[in-house]
Amino acid sequence: MKVFNDVLDMQSYSKGLRLKGKTIGFVPTMGALHEGHLSLVKRSLEENDITVVSIFVNPIQFGPQEDLDRYPRDLEGDRKKLESLGVDALFLPTPEKMYPEGFKTYVTVEGLSEKLCGAFRPGHFRGVTTVVLKLFNIVKPTRAYFGLKDFQQTLIIKTMVRDLNLDIEIVPCPTVREPDGLAMSSRNSYLSEDERRGANLIYLAMKEAEKTLMESMSFSRAVETLNEHLRKSPHVREIQYASLYDPETLEDLRDVDVKIYGKKEAVFAVALLYGKARLIDNLIVKIGGRE
Ligand code: PAF
Repeated sequence: MKVFNDVLDMQSYSKGLRLKGKTIGFVPTMGALHEGHLSLVKRSLEENDITVVSIFVNPIQFGPQEDLDRYPRDLEGDRKKLESLGVDALFLPTPEKMYPEGFKTYVTVEGLSEKLCGAFRPGHFRGVTTVVLKLFNIVKPTRAYFGLKDFQQTLIIKTMVRDLNLDIEIVPCPTVREPDGLAMSSRNSYLSEDERRGANLIYLAMKEAEKTLMESMSFSRAVETLNEHLRKSPHVREIQYASLYDPETLEDLRDVDVKIYGKKEAVFAVALLYGKARLIDNLIVKIGGRE
């Protein structure tokens, strides 16, 4: 596996491959790799001639009170995992290389970046879209792979790619869960044993809410069920958001009549301050009877 620390070295490696007609699959990550990341890597290896993974804990997507300093890091472990899967290249830039002095340009997807997580993490998605656009320009991928665990992030990146006419296919990939339903996340390592035992509550609550939706065909009742279940856990410090949303606009659907909602799918999405972590998860649901 080639390892690049330098932006220009990475760029010229990718340029050479694209000139030879090779397809490049790209998996951008912040490291501390788990099975969720590795599922994206495996998919890229299947679908492309070359697979590039980046590991970069992007400082501009963290707020001043957030976990940039304690974000889990395991570079040696990550490197071994990627090497054993057969990844072709790892891009490992430093913050100084990505944001040299005088850096001034940011990208924002307006209207989606302020909703859900964006309302609680101001500037977060501006940091994400800026770094992802930079990484796309450096790695020059044919396809890029994103987990649906971060549903809003994937939607925002798809929108940026569409709006800025980037010639890259965004491949959304299913959330990988622990056997008890907890969505895999590098931040799950913040949880104590006791917190971890109850941390599948979001998944269980969304499944219950899905049942209510199917039985009642009422968005508001489904959202009530969701919140009732979330409130039961002693580890929940704050429910930041928990509702059913339009998967294209992120409009909150709780007050919308199912009969006038014209789409086939909706998405339950939740963010909690839970124990020592902030947990997010989502579940895409089919609206009964619609083909
Ligand atoms: O999902 C992540 O790990 C990050 O937000 C990403 C896409 C690598 C950008 O820093």
